[in-house]
Amino acid sequence: MINQEERRWSSSAILLPRSKMSSSSPSALPSLSQHPQYQRKQSTSLSNAPSKPPTSAATIHIDVHQLLPNQAECLRELQSFHEALFPVRYAEHFYADLLKSHVIVLLARNKATQALVGVCTGRLTPLTQGAPNNSTQEQVPSISGYIMTLGVIPDLRRQGLASYLLRKLTRRLFRRGADLVELDVITSDPVALNLYLKHQFEMRFINERYYFIQGQHYDSFHLVFERSSLTYWPTAAQDDEVE
Ligand SMILES: CC(C)(COP(=O)(O)OP(=O)(O)OC[C@H]1O[C@@H](n2cnc3c(N)ncnc32)[C@H](O)[C@@H]1OP(=O)(O)O)[C@@H](O)C(=O)NCCC(=O)NCCS
Repeated sequence: MINQEERRWSSSAILLPRSKMSSSSPSALPSLSQHPQYQRKQSTSLSNAPSKPPTSAATIHIDVHQLLPNQAECLRELQSFHEALFPVRYAEHFYADLLKSHVIVLLARNKATQALVGVCTGRLTPLTQGAPNNSTQEQVPSISGYIMTLGVIPDLRRQGLASYLLRKLTRRLFRRGADLVELDVITSDPVALNLYLKHQFEMRFINERYYFIQGQHYDSFHLVFERSSLTYWPTAAQDDEVE
């Protein structure tokens, strides 16, 4: 079922060059060896980043909707999408858990072809070390929202889709009870770091050897977004009008 938010998003459009329209299918996704993360490692400065693609009169419409618990048939598709876009190999249970109630998955699809073009996944986790309650000295339970993955196919990048998905998922995590929203980003990925810093995520510490990719450990920056920073963002209504 399409909700109000989806209709608003699907009524807006992303401009794409005509020549790229046909390559927005999953088969057009890069293989791991072509993964942008590895290409990015060669680049030392953000000035090497690709500029926005030229726009033309061709438009595609994107539907954004939340994965439902009964949509197990989407899990293989999500696995292929993750394996094409991320260097990390997630275990089978990562995908099985996407259907659980503490996990939120936003899917962005090309409305015409239904191809998956963007994904954002997050989960709610109870924090055991809550701040002590002044009167009882008991630990106050608090909940962490954690953004697990965020990816957009290459042809649709630099047009605000990841930003839209990130803001939408973060707001949902807060609405579902998160006290803060956290994530990790590999230290060698200035593009993703740029995206999160632009959205007022704050760097808190380095998680040493957090990622294990093709037999090697990599550090991550651990970033946190406080609810109070939502005031710097467009409202949900503005997001759906603007984007
Ligand atoms: C990172 C990623 C999700 C960004 O998706 P996107 O839809 O292109 O992002 P947006 O268009 O919303 O960009 C938002 C901001 O991110 C930053 N950004 C995005 N791409 C960038 C690039 N190539 N170089 C520098 N900054 C970049 C910019 O600050 C940008 O804002 P601006 O366009 O106003 O300058 C996408 O490149 C991707 O899927 N990469 C592979 C998977 C990955 O690394 N995911 C993140 C780690 S989980």
